[in-house]
Amino acid sequence: MPTKVIGQKAIIVGASSGIGAELARQIAEGGGLVATVARRTDRLQPLADKYPERVFPFTHDVTNYAEAPEVFQKCTDALGGLDFIIYCSGVMPEVGPHEYNTEKDLAMVDVNISGAIAWLNAAATRMESTGHGSIIGIGSVAGDRGRCAQPVYNSSKAFLHTYLEALRNRLVKKGVKVVTIKPGPTESEMTQGMKGTMPVNDAAAKIINLKDRTGEHYLKLTHRIAFFIIKRIPSPIFRKLKI
Ligand SMILES: NC(=O)c1ccc[n+]([C@@H]2O[C@H](COP(=O)([O-])OP(=O)(O)OC[C@H]3O[C@@H](n4cnc5c(N)ncnc54)[C@H](OP(=O)(O)O)[C@@H]3O)[C@@H](O)[C@H]2O)c1
Repeated sequence: MPTKVIGQKAIIVGASSGIGAELARQIAEGGGLVATVARRTDRLQPLADKYPERVFPFTHDVTNYAEAPEVFQKCTDALGGLDFIIYCSGVMPEVGPHEYNTEKDLAMVDVNISGAIAWLNAAATRMESTGHGSIIGIGSVAGDRGRCAQPVYNSSKAFLHTYLEALRNRLVKKGVKVVTIKPGPTESEMTQGMKGTMPVNDAAAKIINLKDRTGEHYLKLTHRIAFFIIKRIPSPIFRKLKI
């Protein structure tokens, strides 16, 4: 159980399942305070019932961007401050190999990109003025290259990586840490039925351990090495490889 969260004040956006739910559970069990945000309130409530003085659930749809600053403020009021925020909300619907569905693609953009901007801009505004805190975004190894299977999911994660790099370059001078996490396949609702996934409790524990380490992080050394190489493969060769 991570001990570096005792007394820390955190917001987890996308805390109702998978990585976000496990992050919230570990923060609460480790003695931290956590505001949990998602649409499915029924999934947030059990943790809040177990730790009523440390867990504060908020029902919110991240595609309602205009609401984000107000819900963010309610979260920091409930917590009495803010040490870190982790943006976990994300969707990756099935996309067929010959499917080009703009409605489906823009729904991914709404959650994976626009929601992230609304929440992390609110956090950046606060942290730039207080000179304190960590902003953590859950990117993906999928954002490192454009693959056939998921054109918009891949590029939504690439967007997030670049946006977080820019926030990092702005905020480092103010003492604020900005952390990009690039998980590989991890056990969650998003990867149901997939083999070889990382257990979600391991992924969450690693993310908590990295929360103050400004920079980009893979959760496995093998991914760090493999993607160092994969990112450098010229496009004409990458196109021919099934990786
Ligand atoms: N699992 C993997 O292999 C893997 C690998 C790399 C990166 N990631 C990234 O990790 C993050 C967490 O994914 P996961 O694997 O834990 O999947 P998950 O179990 O499906 O969780 C997704 C979370 O996103 C929230 N969400 C989706 N749409 C939302 C909306 N409109 N408003 C508010 N919240 C919304 C969901 O909450 P509600 O539905 O209750 O709103 C849920 O809490 C995602 O960004 C994903 O892209 C996952």
